[in-house]
Amino acid sequence: MQRNEFPRSKDLFLTAADFIERCYTEIGRTEQISSRIQHIRIEIESTGTYHQLSFELEHGARMAWRNSNRCIGRLFWKALKVRDCRHINTNDGVYEALGSHLRYATNKGTIRPAVSVFAPAHPELPEQAITVANHQLIRYAGWLAEDGGCIGDPKELNFTQFCQSLGWNPTPVHSKFDILPWVWRLPGGEWHLQSPRTEWILEVPLRHPECAEFASLGLRWYAVPVISDMQLEIGGLQYPAAPFNGWYMGTEIGSRNLGDADRYNCLPAVAHLFGLDSRSTASLWKDRSLVELNRAVLHSFESDGVRMVDHHTASEQFMKFMQTEARKGRHVQGDWSWLVPPMSGSASPIFHQNLDNQVISPNFYYRPLLPELSSAF
Ligand code: ARG
Repeated sequence: MQRNEFPRSKDLFLTAADFIERCYTEIGRTEQISSRIQHIRIEIESTGTYHQLSFELEHGARMAWRNSNRCIGRLFWKALKVRDCRHINTNDGVYEALGSHLRYATNKGTIRPAVSVFAPAHPELPEQAITVANHQLIRYAGWLAEDGGCIGDPKELNFTQFCQSLGWNPTPVHSKFDILPWVWRLPGGEWHLQSPRTEWILEVPLRHPECAEFASLGLRWYAVPVISDMQLEIGGLQYPAAPFNGWYMGTEIGSRNLGDADRYNCLPAVAHLFGLDSRSTASLWKDRSLVELNRAVLHSFESDGVRMVDHHTASEQFMKFMQTEARKGRHVQGDWSWLVPPMSGSASPIFHQNLDNQVISPNFYYRPLLPELSSAF
């Protein structure tokens, strides 16, 4: 997998100037470009960094979404709500900010895309930055079972163990869907662990439009994916904590989270429920199970009034995004292997596209793995 980490050596001022020029041109402030760049040059010379104005942060974050090669949902980049959390410097402040992000984004099911941007790192002290250890704000624990298997989400085994090492011990009985606590650290501080309030969390129990017994599988998923372990780079500044969300595309849950063999691995159980012949791969029992599982996800979110997009609609929206970007004279970058939905790939128009996977700035980058989370398994 390609890990697009930001080149630290790139000169901050040049990156800043390039960003200001593109940002101001897009938002119609061209006459302010040279004075702003001048100001930033002086600020960087005396402090080693610079402060972005709130409208720069707002448009920069939207550009970062627009530039996210792996995101199929980018048509809506202009609607991103940018929450300026740069002033927050207490644990209570972080907790409230994460909580209000979740409430704003969830919006009782009418999911709204948002990013909460915490203080940037100083280029000379990158390790002195606020860090959120969670991969997503809502995620289910992975518990190592006696038989060596996993109860819950295998992807979260390391993080779950890390939470336990910090004293987290939610219930004597572990379930497949225990919501993980939030873990973060302020600059120079210790890890802080605190669970989100239950009333902030919207979940959808999964049922099938025709097969009533489907509900007995006891599957569920949360409403809002808030990615919290990527860093936002705008104009050469690194924002190491910038949790962001959109709404779900059904296949993320139905094909990947629940379908992947190394995740919840639900295809065998679904096949059994629908009486499919899983002895021969040529019966296409996996394909048929994927369809039923994905139907259940779409049906349940729809019935509960939780915003979600199916992969056909999302593909059409992405094609429209490519067109609107072309009309603006911008070239769309994209990662084909991520953009093609993980079900019925060739039925998506994206499958038939050639895409350039160059990574441009501003963008969201993977942050290096925290040593606390490196594999124990
Ligand atoms: N694929 C991830 C998950 O299933 C979420 C990634 C972000 N997805 C989104 N629709 N914004 O949890």
